[in-house]
Amino acid sequence: MAQKKRTDRPYTSADQNLLVKDANIWTGEGFTRGSVLIENGTIKRIARRIDAQDGEVINASGLYALPGMIDVHVHLRDMRLSYKEDFASGTAAAAAGGFTTVLDMPNTVPPTDSVQHLVEKQKRAERKVRVNVGFHAAATSENKVIAELAGAGAFSLKLYMPKPIAPFDVNDNAEIQKMMISAGRIGVPVTVHAEEMEPSQKKARVNNIQQLAKARPPILETRAVHRIASIQKRTRCRVHFCHLTLASSLGEIRAGSPRTTSEVTPHHLLLSTKSLKKLGWKAWMVPPLRSERNRRALLSATHAGSCDIVASDHAPHLIGEKKQRPEDSPPGVPGLETTLSLMLTLVDKGILNFSILTRMMAENPARIFGLRSKAKLWPGFDGDLVLVDRKKKSRIDSSKFLSKAKFSPFDGFPTKGGVVSTIVGGTVVYDDGELWDKEGSGAVLRSRFFE
Ligand code: DOR
Ligand code: ZN
Repeated sequence: MAQKKRTDRPYTSADQNLLVKDANIWTGEGFTRGSVLIENGTIKRIARRIDAQDGEVINASGLYALPGMIDVHVHLRDMRLSYKEDFASGTAAAAAGGFTTVLDMPNTVPPTDSVQHLVEKQKRAERKVRVNVGFHAAATSENKVIAELAGAGAFSLKLYMPKPIAPFDVNDNAEIQKMMISAGRIGVPVTVHAEEMEPSQKKARVNNIQQLAKARPPILETRAVHRIASIQKRTRCRVHFCHLTLASSLGEIRAGSPRTTSEVTPHHLLLSTKSLKKLGWKAWMVPPLRSERNRRALLSATHAGSCDIVASDHAPHLIGEKKQRPEDSPPGVPGLETTLSLMLTLVDKGILNFSILTRMMAENPARIFGLRSKAKLWPGFDGDLVLVDRKKKSRIDSSKFLSKAKFSPFDGFPTKGGVVSTIVGGTVVYDDGELWDKEGSGAVLRSRFFE
């Protein structure tokens, strides 16, 4: 059992040492017992025994040290959507969920569609974030804007097919190809929300959430993945497909170009249309939940290693907004504080294992988005790690979320395995259910695709 209090002093010191003592440390292949010394934000030494020097010591006996989780698909909102979530609350939720790095999506007000807007967000985040944050930008076919966005550190160009964030004709294959050629030259990936909307499907009349979900059937994803993957083949562009819901999509991507990668969310792995009637607005997101049959197939394909990334698609909204008439209810559910414990629960059940979990939640995110100093607990890598208690039994309780969005389709879900401490660059930001550090303990990350 983890001790309740592992140190007497609050840990706040990026410029000091932090010794994480007696943990089960993830090596990349398995666990080994030992200690991790972090100096000036970087892992300095890992050894069976390291004697405490000056600086903080955190007793991790009985706990498992994993590389800090990386969530590549998060809507932190802020700016004029701060009432839904802001950089401080969203990154507090990330810390509570074991994520040390998150990448923010560009569908904000204003959108991340120009270098000015990107830099504005980066500056504003600088003083507020508790974990590391990078930014995706909106897809554009203008070469000059693509180069500027990539130069300012955008992690991808997001193509939101249902409703482009910046002006973009998603039906025009030539325009998509033009963007991919330019992005491919620069090295910045394109991320895709793959749903091929038909004009009649843009605003359906509905009575309930089930009908809303029905209006966006699986075929829309199949068509979108197929069309985008075909265009990608003619370019050198790397394309990452967000929140896929079908095993067949994972299959097509795996069998296709090595430059395409896939992502799934915990809600599509664990929930189906079976729960829609009961959960209503709490389970309304796009793409929507699928049939139980599709869900099972997605989970077994993920178990078989066919998917690259698990991301939360943390999409906070006010409960008041969600509870409106179905056609006005904004899609999206918060996920930063549930994703890791749900995945640990699947590990506990033997449905996933730690190799798959760390690969999908740290190693692949770092590799695909060029975070070269992250995702490994090795000397020289960033001091980002999460301590988990594999025995911790709990139930998901959204009233305790640090996110402003205090609802979840997983409320009441039993979990086994949970976050005890989250360490960002050698600073403990979350420990034993408490947020420790001040705003601004995380770094704003800029992509280095150019180098
Ligand atoms: O459910 C969703 N919510 N899907 C999206 O694609 C957007 C997101 C949001 O921003 O709320
Ligand atoms: Zn999203």
